[in-house]
Amino acid sequence: MKRRQFIYLVGLATASGGLAIACDANPNQASTELEKELVVYSGRNEKLIGELIKQFEAQTNAKVQVRYGDTAELASAILEEGTNSPADVFFAQDAGALGAIQKAGRAVELPTSLLNQVDSAYRSPEGKWLGITGRVRTVDYNTKLVQPGELPSSIFDFTDSKWQGKMGWAPTNGSFQSFVTALRVAEGEDRARQWLEGIKANNAKIYPNNTSIVEALTRSEIAVGFVNHYYLERIKQENPQVPVEHHFTEDIGSLVNVAGIAVLNSAKNPNNAQRFVEFMLSENAQNYFANQTYEYPLTSGIAPKGKLKSLQEVQKQTQKIDLSNLNDLEATLQLMQQVEII
Ligand SMILES: [Fe+2]
Repeated sequence: MKRRQFIYLVGLATASGGLAIACDANPNQASTELEKELVVYSGRNEKLIGELIKQFEAQTNAKVQVRYGDTAELASAILEEGTNSPADVFFAQDAGALGAIQKAGRAVELPTSLLNQVDSAYRSPEGKWLGITGRVRTVDYNTKLVQPGELPSSIFDFTDSKWQGKMGWAPTNGSFQSFVTALRVAEGEDRARQWLEGIKANNAKIYPNNTSIVEALTRSEIAVGFVNHYYLERIKQENPQVPVEHHFTEDIGSLVNVAGIAVLNSAKNPNNAQRFVEFMLSENAQNYFANQTYEYPLTSGIAPKGKLKSLQEVQKQTQKIDLSNLNDLEATLQLMQQVEII
């Protein structure tokens, strides 16, 4: 993922939120007139979802237009465009962006029949966005350099000096920044700052992205790295012998974030928007994501790909937070700038 250079313009959008309410389009009450189009703003790239879009078009006869881009940039675009936005749905790569859209009053409540397909931990408590796939933060470690018993149960213990020079992180990475937001939300600003300062003081090596961290782990360049779970799965698919495994801390260090969808209150094609959400929850689409991205399917009964620990197990030991509250990326970037890691 690219570095996020845009911040969510929540203040601006909230100011125009009053207008938005007047134009509320409820998919449940949408006209029965057949909609011919659907406009998707997608933070998931074309290489990944292009095939699914084609299948959706074939199934529904709807012509789909997709604007692909960085999730944070698209969220900003939706908020700037206001109710004139051409977008019907927003497919975001993390929950924070969906939270920003919800908090600006731009998302409609989804039907219970859709919401109930996904565990309540992975959707908006207000029903205004829905996770499609799960993305877990992990501490990946090199099995030649670290024994599982040495790995702490709290992410905060990596600030101990015994991890000096042994860690890797990617401060400019979007998923990492979402994790820092979660740290702020779950533990407070002071603890989040302490963690960042502690890891920095331990001379964690800076990498441009998650892939380069996992590659460094395979070369035994570092002992542990803070990443999303699916990078190692991708590498293991090609080279199952790499000496790297996942460790899950028993706190916010194992944050389960989601890629998910919101239907906009200004949608001109609310029926198709709803069908799009339904389609992305279908067994076919859920398996497609599991096979293509190694993310966790979020509808029940569909297993993740490979030897991943089940999401239920991960969820049992990690801290629960309302993912809608991961919207304040601006404060996270400010904190990271103050600590001088970006
Ligand atoms: Fe990623």
